[in-house]
Amino acid sequence: MKSDPVGFVLQDPYTRETLETGRGYLLNPANGNRYYINSGIPVFMTEDAMTGDNLKYSRFYDRISRFYRASTVVYCWLKGTTEKKVKSLYLDLLEIQSNSNVLEVSIGSADNLKHLPQPANYAGIDISFGMLTMAKKHLKHWNIPAALVQGEAENLPFQDNTFDVVFHVGGINYFNDKGRALSEMIRVAKPGSKILVADETESVVANTYQKNPFTRNLYQLADRDLSVPVHLLPPGMKETEVRYFFDQRIYCLTFRKPS
Ligand SMILES: C[S@@+](CC[C@H](N)C(=O)[O-])C[C@H]1O[C@@H](n2cnc3c(N)ncnc32)[C@H](O)[C@@H]1O
Repeated sequence: MKSDPVGFVLQDPYTRETLETGRGYLLNPANGNRYYINSGIPVFMTEDAMTGDNLKYSRFYDRISRFYRASTVVYCWLKGTTEKKVKSLYLDLLEIQSNSNVLEVSIGSADNLKHLPQPANYAGIDISFGMLTMAKKHLKHWNIPAALVQGEAENLPFQDNTFDVVFHVGGINYFNDKGRALSEMIRVAKPGSKILVADETESVVANTYQKNPFTRNLYQLADRDLSVPVHLLPPGMKETEVRYFFDQRIYCLTFRKPS
């Protein structure tokens, strides 16, 4: 039987074979690899296989997962605004219809889905199982159905041309391989789909995280290019635009996969 425990056909993120469903796991029939399903969430990468910044941030987000949502709400309040207002600045650019397949790469605790149109067919991937556990809790509470999988943005377990909308907010600055993550987002998007990528600008990282003694070591600038990753897009993307929001704290790159 082909895999569909989450409503989308899943493939091996490393070999691209379509996975089959076993009891509590997904099977790659070509090489016998099994990906276990933990609390309803297929796990494509365990911590022992992670490296570099992906490992560092997966651990970090696992640790803070229970406080992440509250910290966003409080941060917006301290800046004199609301989470809804800030998120609307970029989420309103997404072109979501009632039958759209929508993927959020790095869904975190699923806070963006609370502010997106319902119904639609939502899926989310994140590297942190702790964040996904919170996402599952929130989605149940908000009564929003969504497929969740654990894995890295650089190797998505979805088939080519699956999603009408693909978006990412807040993690790409420190991915192991931003260019590869962008190509994966493009691969799984249907031709003509809009793709949105937003993250904090370099000045926020320098003026906030770099100055805070709790986050200083985590957010190192020296070996990092924190510019808008427009230069990493493959040739041929359409309608490429860069916008800045929230007093230049957030950059937002949008583009369209060619039809
Ligand atoms: C700042 S949070 C943003 C969460 C959510 N997108 C939001 O806007 O609230 C960044 C997320 O990126 C995830 N992340 C970091 N590196 C990743 C990678 N290489 N692949 C997938 N997710 C990753 C983290 O686990 C974390 O949940």
